[in-house]
Amino acid sequence: MITGVAFAWLSLGQAVQGAALVGPCETMDNSVPNRYPTALMSTDEKTPNELPGRASYTQFADRYAEQAPVKPHNALYERPATRSLLGAVAGLDVLDAGCGPGILSAELAGEGARVQAFDVTPAMVQLAKARCAGLAVDIAQGDLGRPLDWLASGSVDRIVCSLALDYVEHLAPTFQEFHRVARPGALLVFSMSHPMRDWIDTRTRGSRTYFETTRFGLHWGGFGEPKPWVEAFRRPLADIFNALMEAGWAIDRVLEPMPQPEMKAVSPALHAELAQAPAFICVRARRV
Ligand SMILES: C[S@@+](CC[C@H](N)C(=O)[O-])C[C@H]1O[C@@H](n2cnc3c(N)ncnc32)[C@H](O)[C@@H]1O
Repeated sequence: MITGVAFAWLSLGQAVQGAALVGPCETMDNSVPNRYPTALMSTDEKTPNELPGRASYTQFADRYAEQAPVKPHNALYERPATRSLLGAVAGLDVLDAGCGPGILSAELAGEGARVQAFDVTPAMVQLAKARCAGLAVDIAQGDLGRPLDWLASGSVDRIVCSLALDYVEHLAPTFQEFHRVARPGALLVFSMSHPMRDWIDTRTRGSRTYFETTRFGLHWGGFGEPKPWVEAFRRPLADIFNALMEAGWAIDRVLEPMPQPEMKAVSPALHAELAQAPAFICVRARRV
């Protein structure tokens, strides 16, 4: 068990043993989860000794950088929901944790924020640097599962972490570290895959119960060929909220987002699916 402010850093070996690894799995389109044919993958081809996020995004960082700014799942669903929770940022110090190719970092700097950003995937860091050139954005390579030791304590007003925490097995140390770098009263906004959605989907559930943290892999079909093999963690909702509150964050608002109305015209099937049940959960918490 991880307790206290001292980070009990977990080795990758421990992390891999700690979660149930599910497989073989099927092709998944990140945008339209059930529309692509099955492509079975043997567990031998997974990457248990690599950080799942880095191994996954190294395969298609360029394609993500090109498509995520306009992809309906991001542009007309997750990003507007996350931005609505973040509010105005002009004049604030903002940390973009798991920044990917810097889409949000550039947007926030354009609105007058001073941005610190980091990502674990070297290709993403390079793409973020290119996108944010000339803007007030400092970009580092860093791991959400390790101490953010290049960041001073009490140095940021807002932390945004969009769609990156799914790749971290143990959230408690990460939320504690976010607490350390945040100023009193700071806001943390994050989005993640909705735990119930991933459990209802038999491909991501495997043979596990809802209550087990599960490491699973899927071929994502929504970013072109070759389909990247993406591994992530699914965990119970209570584990997310309890880790957050125990780290000193008070939950302020929870969104199970609805798609933007414009999605109906560009991607009617996805709109219909997301209007029935959420794919993501977005949370705003205040540093106590
Ligand atoms: C779905 S992308 C989201 C990127 C960006 N936040 C956005 O909304 O466009 C997930 C990102 O999380 C990053 N990531 C995965 N595991 C990470 C970790 N342990 N530490 C930091 N970043 C991580 C990946 O490299 C990838 O860039």
